Amino acid sequence: MESIWSWIFYLAFLLFIITATYASIKGAPWFPTNKKNVKRFLELAEIKEEEKLYDLGCGDGRIIFASAKKGAFVEGIEVSLFMYLLTSFKKLFQKEKKNIKVSYKDMWEKNIKDADVVYFFLMPAIYSRLKEKLEKELKEGTKVIAYVWPIKGWEPVKISKKEGEPNIYLYKR
Ligand SMILES: C[S@@+](CC[C@H](N)C(=O)[O-])C[C@H]1O[C@@H](n2cnc3c(N)ncnc32)[C@H](O)[C@@H]1O
Repeated sequence: MESIWSWIFYLAFLLFIITATYASIKGAPWFPTNKKNVKRFLELAEIKEEEKLYDLGCGDGRIIFASAKKGAFVEGIEVSLFMYLLTSFKKLFQKEKKNIKVSYKDMWEKNIKDADVVYFFLMPAIYSRLKEKLEKELKEGTKVIAYVWPIKGWEPVKISKKEGEPNIYLYKR
């Protein structure tokens, strides 16, 4: 019995490593937004009921679950199979699960034109491609929130600053 659990553990670990490596190439490895900063994100985003929010690379789902609690329709796009399965499982226990969608997808292949709010915590190395995607797809007035790194060439409408914590940038298309 013990050896079955060891195998399950090793396989899960292997899946995590392989899919995390793949995600790193596609946009960023998994590293969560600090829980304290999820609160700062919510203050900055001022999410309204029924707004459509995307987290591009939703990781363990903390941003989408917190946003769903504010009444938003949320969709987490996730390219890592491990994180997708984990977040889909966590979704089962969310009170607002009807308003939560978790998609196993590469964000580069997902059109997000219906977004009211877009959040991401991704590597700045992909920002120029991401900026192009956002400029092409987003409607006027969409809130774009970038964690840690600003978007070069865009003027933030607000920056959330806290000592010892990364900045969070709010933009409006
Ligand atoms: C730094 S983590 C941030 C997770 C989550 N957004 C948060 O703030 O806690 C980046 C996430 O993006 C995912 N990711 C990276 N490239 C992606 C892509 N091209 N499409 C979808 N997800 C991607 C990774 O698997 C990882 O879970």
